[in-house]
Amino acid sequence: MDGTGPLRVIIGAGAQRWDGWVPTHREQLDLCDRKTWRAWFGERRADALLCEHVFEHLTEAEGRSAAAICFDFLRPGGFLRVAVPDANFPDPVYQTAVQVGGPGPPDHPAADHRLVYDHRLLTDVLAGAGFEVELLEYCDAAGRFHHRPWDPDTGPVYRSLRLDHRNADGRLGFVSLIADARKPAPS
Ligand SMILES: C[S@@+](CC[C@H](N)C(=O)[O-])C[C@H]1O[C@@H](n2cnc3c(N)ncnc32)[C@H](O)[C@@H]1O
Repeated sequence: MDGTGPLRVIIGAGAQRWDGWVPTHREQLDLCDRKTWRAWFGERRADALLCEHVFEHLTEAEGRSAAAICFDFLRPGGFLRVAVPDANFPDPVYQTAVQVGGPGPPDHPAADHRLVYDHRLLTDVLAGAGFEVELLEYCDAAGRFHHRPWDPDTGPVYRSLRLDHRNADGRLGFVSLIADARKPAPS
């Protein structure tokens, strides 16, 4: 990053690395601690934030506060792309794996899941922070999967219809609830 291009930041990156994106970890940008954002961003603001399978590790109250933090550290017109497990995906094995508290083993990556979102709650949390929300992939209350065309080059989400290896051959093996949350630009 030379400071001249767009500032695109991955929150809670884990092992994720995408060209053109700055990976950050909780120690640098903690969704539950605005101070870390002030220290890391200074006067800068992000053009885009990418947050794949992180919000489910927060309580609903923490998620609402995290959405507000993301809003404040985006430039007007910038966007947050969020992906979380989908409470409406009708696969019992999936739901067991992503459930609050995880499936059992304390070292399981889902052991600290605090919430499983459906599209209505995620939309409400993001809109409540001031974002304009567009759902990219989600299951409705009847379990039907919906998706609209979106470009992974604008913010790749691995656990998505096109990128996840479990969705090969037309079979839907693993989905996410994926939303774009845009900070309105002044008119
Ligand atoms: C399941 S991993 C997902 C990692 C990566 N985003 C991916 O999709 O492979 C969950 C990540 O959320 C991060 N995380 C949990 N709570 C966080 C917080 N309050 N602020 C920032 N990151 C957090 C963890 O450190 C971990 O890297």
